[in-house]
Amino acid sequence: MKVITKIHPEYLQHLEVFRAWAFDPKIQDSIHTKFRWPTNKFFNEGTPEKAASAELLTSINAEEHVGYPIDMYGLDFNYNNLRTAAERADTDFFDEIRQMNIEIDSRFQALMGAYHPALKAFYPKNGYIAWHTNWNAPGYNIVFSFSPTGNGYWRHVDPTNATSIRPDPKNLVQINDIPGWHCKAGYFGGKDEINKLMWHSAFTNEPRLTLSYVFKDKSLWEDLLEEIEQ
Ligand SMILES: [Fe+2]
Repeated sequence: MKVITKIHPEYLQHLEVFRAWAFDPKIQDSIHTKFRWPTNKFFNEGTPEKAASAELLTSINAEEHVGYPIDMYGLDFNYNNLRTAAERADTDFFDEIRQMNIEIDSRFQALMGAYHPALKAFYPKNGYIAWHTNWNAPGYNIVFSFSPTGNGYWRHVDPTNATSIRPDPKNLVQINDIPGWHCKAGYFGGKDEINKLMWHSAFTNEPRLTLSYVFKDKSLWEDLLEEIEQ
């Protein structure tokens, strides 16, 4: 995974629109009071950090894994994903989410080669996304994350020397959040690409944001990364 800690101001200004929206006290209140959250296994069991643990990684049945996370304590505001959950939100709040989506997508559309984001996630304190691969949608990923003080982390399993689709906890890599925005980039392979599989997860001790994009074209992705890096 390539990590970019200094993001070019041209990109940062658009990311900041998402941050300003999500961390606005009114929106924060709506997130917690005007949205019926899905149930979250590890959070409900009082062990949120287990979602990104080596212990869970070892117990995963990789053969049966589809690509999606088995559990997430966070909300994905990507409208394409959210609209199927419209009944979970208060009508006015849902409309605010929809407008924010239009705003972010129109700002990023030209910059990111007209690609729609895969994820526009908000994680609360103790938020997480459990181990998964996204191997149902292989591609070149760009993952932007925001953390107020950097008290959270991303984890992945380095697939370079993998010999099966099962993740080996010995190859676990942790990338700590930093205060503010940073960006990670890497290829997340399909189920048949054993040395390019990207088992990944994240956990945060404080509210955190993630905006991610997937590209099919390697050179477009590489060009973008050069532009994103300040
Ligand atoms: Fe993912």
